[in-house]
Parts: sequence; structure tokens; C-alpha cells
Amino acid sequence: MDFKELAKKRYSCRYLTGEKIDSKLIDSIIETAILAPTAVNKQPVKIFIMDSENAKNHIKEVCQWTFGAETFLIVAYKKEDAWTRKFDDHNFGEVDASIVATHIMLEITDLGLDTTWVGHFDAPKLKSLCPEMKDYELIAVFPIGYASEKAKPASLHFQRKSREELVETL
Ligand SMILES: Cc1cc2nc3c(=O)[nH]c(=O)nc-3n(C[C@H](O)[C@H](O)[C@H](O)COP(=O)(O)O)c2cc1C
Repeated sequence: MDFKELAKKRYSCRYLTGEKIDSKLIDSIIETAILAPTAVNKQPVKIFIMDSENAKNHIKEVCQWTFGAETFLIVAYKKEDAWTRKFDDHNFGEVDASIVATHIMLEITDLGLDTTWVGHFDAPKLKSLCPEMKDYELIAVFPIGYASEKAKPASLHFQRKSREELVETL
């Protein structure tokens, strides 16, 4: 799919059928995540595949925005593994993890699947439920599946800043 077409096709899908997705599709999503650039190629990012009943129950316990999905990915990063800019001590872990998450989101759309980037979840509680996450900052939950008949873009999807608002040429 042409990139602009892909960017236009993507929207936050909040109604999924609950059909389980083939593990080959997850493999393809992970391959695309690995291709993401990161500052100084530090790759401080971790992706947690939440596939077992136990893991999925943990997500449902900490997040009300699961949209009927039966497959979840969590994007996380380790601050101390990320590059820090010396001039202002800016740590780029969140930037790196966001690039990886964006690759994931767009690959999901390209595969004909749907998702929403979910940031509204109880990250400290999830870390306490999943000790594997304890050293990570958790930035995104992706509930992944197939759009149900009810699915359509929300009104916010269509509210975009104009070029004049977004861009300033110096
Ligand atoms: C960092 C981030 C966090 C978000 N968190 C949530 C969330 O917790 N719940 C939700 O329903 N949507 C969430 N969204 C989706 C946004 O609301 C959505 O992207 C925005 O309204 C634009 O709509 P669109 O994605 O359909 O274009 C999040 C998006 C981003 C990028």
C-alpha cells in the first residue's frame, strides 16, 4: 500500500470482533518494529506480547480500553538503555519507543488488522502484576484484532489542524 494511502486508512478502531489473530501476523508486526530507527541505535525498547489468559486478564484489570481484543502488545523502554543528549540531559527513550510504536500501529493497518494506541492504563499496577516489566516505562497498549461491523472513526479523527496552524516557516 502507498504510504499516504496507509496513513489515511489508519484510524483508532474501538470495536474489534475478538477473533484471535494468527501468530504469523504478530511475527510480521515484530519484524517491522525491529526496523524502527532509535537514537544512536540504542534500541532501548521492549515489546511484551500479552497472549496467555493470565497476561490478558492483567491488561483487562488495568485498562478499560481493550475494545474486545484477544491479542495485546505493550511497548516499553528502559530509560538507562536510551541515549541522553549531553546539552540538556534529554533522555530519548520515550521518543525511541514512540517510533517503534508508530511502526507497530501502521504495520497493523497494513496487514488489514485494526488497533488503537492506548496510553490510558494503570502502568504502575501492570508492572506490579507482571514483574518482567518492573524496569521499564510502559508507553502503549495495542489491542489488536479485526474491526467489527460497528467500527468507524470517532469524530476526533476528523479534527485536524490546518497547515497554517501546524507549520511555521522561519
Ligand atoms: C499517545 C496516545 C495515547 C492514546 N491513548 C488513548 C487511550 O487511552 N484511549 C483511547 O481510546 N484512545 C487513545 N488514543 C487515540 C487518540 O485518541 C486518537 O489517535 C486521536 O483521537 C485521533 O484519532 P485517530 O487515531 O482515529 O486518527 C491515544 C493516541 C495516542 C497517540
